[in-house]
Parts: sequence; C-alpha cells; structure tokens
Amino acid sequence: MQHKQKEKKAIITVKGLQKSFSTGEVEQVIINNLDLDIYEGDFTIIMGSSGAGKSTLMYALSGMDRPSGGRILFDGKDITEYKDDELAVFRRKNCGFVFQQIYLLEKMSLMDNVLTTGFLTGEKKNNVIKRAEDLFDKVNLPKITRKKNSSQISGGEAQRVGIVRALINRPKVVFADEPTGALNSNNSDAVLDVFSKVHEEGQSIIMVTHDKKTALRADRIIYLKDGKIFGECLLGNYQKEDVERTRKLNQFLEEMGW
Ligand SMILES: Nc1ncnc2c1ncn2[C@@H]1O[C@H](COP(=O)(O)OP(=O)(O)OP(=O)(O)O)[C@@H](O)[C@H]1O
Ligand SMILES: [Mg+2]
Repeated sequence: MQHKQKEKKAIITVKGLQKSFSTGEVEQVIINNLDLDIYEGDFTIIMGSSGAGKSTLMYALSGMDRPSGGRILFDGKDITEYKDDELAVFRRKNCGFVFQQIYLLEKMSLMDNVLTTGFLTGEKKNNVIKRAEDLFDKVNLPKITRKKNSSQISGGEAQRVGIVRALINRPKVVFADEPTGALNSNNSDAVLDVFSKVHEEGQSIIMVTHDKKTALRADRIIYLKDGKIFGECLLGNYQKEDVERTRKLNQFLEEMGW
C-alpha cells in the first residue's frame, strides 16, 4: 500500500541547504540549494553515487556539522541557529547516530560503551541494562564479545555495537550511514530487522546505503545527485519478498542512472 505522504508531518524540513568545502583556493559546492522534507515515522533512505554528498547531508541534518547556508527545521525549530552547546543538547535528546566510522571508548567494554550513553537520560539503570542486552541479542553480538573492548573486535562487530549504542535511548530520529557496510548477509539481515522493528515502533530512520536489499526496507528513497534531490521513490510498507516492490526499486534506480 502506498503511503500518503501528504498526511504525514515533517520532522525535518530543509530549505535552500548549501554546503561547500574549500580545498586550497578551490571551493567545491557539495550540497546546492537543496529543499527536502523528512516525514515523522518514515524510514527514509538516501542513495546516490560515491562522493554525491550523502554523508555530508546526514551530518548537516543531524546537527553534527554546520551548513554553509540555508535552514534546517527540526520539529519546527531552526537548528542552524543553535549555539554549539544547544546543538549538543539537541542531538543528545533527539538523535541516534551510526556513522561510517564508529568511535568507541577503548578503555571500557563494549557493554559499558553502550551503558555510558544509556545512563545519560536518567532512566532506571536496570531498564537500560535490559534494553542493551536485548539489542545486543537482536544484532547477534554474543555475551562474550560484549565484554571485550574496541581494540579486540572486528569492523562488523564494531558496527553492531554502534547500532546498539545509537538505539539505546530510543531517539526520535536515527541517522545511519551505511550501517550494514561491513556485514555479511546474515548479520546484515539481523541489523535490518532491528531497524525495521524500531521503525514499526514509530521512530524515524534516515539511512544511507549503496545496497539494494537495504533500500527495499524503506518507505521512501531519495536520490542525491549534483548537490540536489534528483528523484524520489515511494515504496510504502515493507513486506518480505515483495516482487512488485523490487521491480519498482530497480526501475527507479535505473531511471536515476545508478
Ligand atoms: N571536510 C571536507 N573537506 C573537503 N571536501 C570534503 C570534506 N568532506 C567531504 N568532502 C567532499 O565532499 C564530497 C561528498 O562527500 P561525502 O562524504 O558526503 O560523499 P558520500 O556521498 O557520502 O560518498 P560515499 O558513498 O563514498 O560515502 C566528496 O567529494 C568529498 O571529497
Ligand atoms: Mg558517505
């Protein structure tokens, strides 16, 4: 069934977003006067070729980096006007992050890395621990691995710890940049099932991927090219092995020149 985008409320509204980088004397425009609405509760996927600016856009949307121009309204409030400390509070309250590089504190176990974030909200410690255990189970990270520290684990394991940490506080919006990039098929499916579950529970997800199987999970796909939204595709509610959905996605990506 097709989603009715019109009835949805925008959780993020982007107006005239601009981002450029200066390298030496050359200025490179990466995001060029981009307008975009991200709807509350949607599983939105951003695609586009390497270097198209997907990560750059994610950093801007989540208040991790400041744009060169334009407005980003989050729940109606312009986050580009926030001071650094206000932005930090905003991120902690509203956002979960899974980025291409996962930064973990090396001096403590993986579990403690997650709990350090989980205890920030003041929720009962036992509840946080239970939720952490449950999320670790769901992403297939065994109990013995949770006791290790970040120097003792593989890239795919680090990625899954990053996902657990991003979800521990049930953020309004989860930003995930290629969260299945380092994972084999089984673990990738487990991780995607976790994201689908989080989505069912009403959280919004914005994810970047190069992977068609991952893209099939989305309600909506946005294709980035030449610093702008080049096209979008509405897929509606996810169902496993949906042939029509796969056909629609393939056709869309072909049109985009992917
Ligand atoms: N800090 C920076 N300084 C200069 N150029 C940058 C900086 N960050 C990104 N860029 C440039 O901006 C462009 C977009 O980068 P970005 O990381 O957003 O691409 P991407 O779409 O996420 O690519 P990928 O799929 O490879 O992750 C690239 O050409 C990159 O070189
Ligand atoms: Mg990227």
